[in-house]
Amino acid sequence: MRIVLVGPPGAGKGTQAAFLAKNLSIPHISTGDLFRANISQQTELGKLAKSYMDAGNLVPDEVTIGMAKDRMEKPDAENGFLLDGFPRNVSQAEALDEMLQSESMKLDAVLDLEVPEEEVVKRIAGRRICRKDSSHVFHVTYSKPKAEGVCDACGGELYQRDDDSEETVRKRLEVYHTQTEPIIDYYKAQGLVVTISALGKVEEVTGRAMEALKRDE
Ligand code: AP5
Ligand code: ZN
Repeated sequence: MRIVLVGPPGAGKGTQAAFLAKNLSIPHISTGDLFRANISQQTELGKLAKSYMDAGNLVPDEVTIGMAKDRMEKPDAENGFLLDGFPRNVSQAEALDEMLQSESMKLDAVLDLEVPEEEVVKRIAGRRICRKDSSHVFHVTYSKPKAEGVCDACGGELYQRDDDSEETVRKRLEVYHTQTEPIIDYYKAQGLVVTISALGKVEEVTGRAMEALKRDE
């Protein structure tokens, strides 16, 4: 299956993607995680991306689309993938369509996670991620690690993302509404959107997502 996950910052895209990718046996491709890996390895791409990310803005399409394409061309993504955080504006969605069409492929579904803004703010404020692997995500009250500040999965140190400050989160929400939400209408026109509530326990949301994707088959 080829799936795009969409939803505001803090909706739980990364959290759900980890379970969905495992259940569906497809790789989880997160452009945010790819940028953070580049930042921790201090690559040129990482240095460029950091300034945009810390301000809550989108990293320019020229670098983002190429990075996403390179990842989607890896052998493990041949039979499907779960995209998290890409596409994030209509021109990225158009570039993805072109990429898929040139390989005679198409998307199966766009899963839209709906969460009220107050909840998103609470989720982001308490989020802690692992220094060794940013797909290991915790929350100080909703998804507590067994030992404070230590990743359950790999023992890495947990930290708060630089772009999770109140000011940057406000900017990221604004960017989501103005630049990312329009892709929902873009994909509605293709009949691909399934919307679910992302409220409730993590496993309840995963169950809802799996049901919605089954119905969509
Ligand atoms: P990215 O990393 O994609 O961030 P985001 O979209 O803002 O999403 P988040 O990672 O903040 O949230 P999430 O929905 O994954 O929530 P999570 O599962 O962690 O992008 C960061 C930046 O990179 C962008 O601002 C941009 O600069 C750049 N970028 C990335 N892609 C780009 C692109 N395509 N183009 C241009 N720029 C790009 O959950 C949040 C918290 O809630 C966690 O603590 C979790 O434990 C908790 N939680 C999750 N589910 C539940 C639940 N059901 N109940 C209670 N708590 C929950
Ligand atoms: Zn870890």
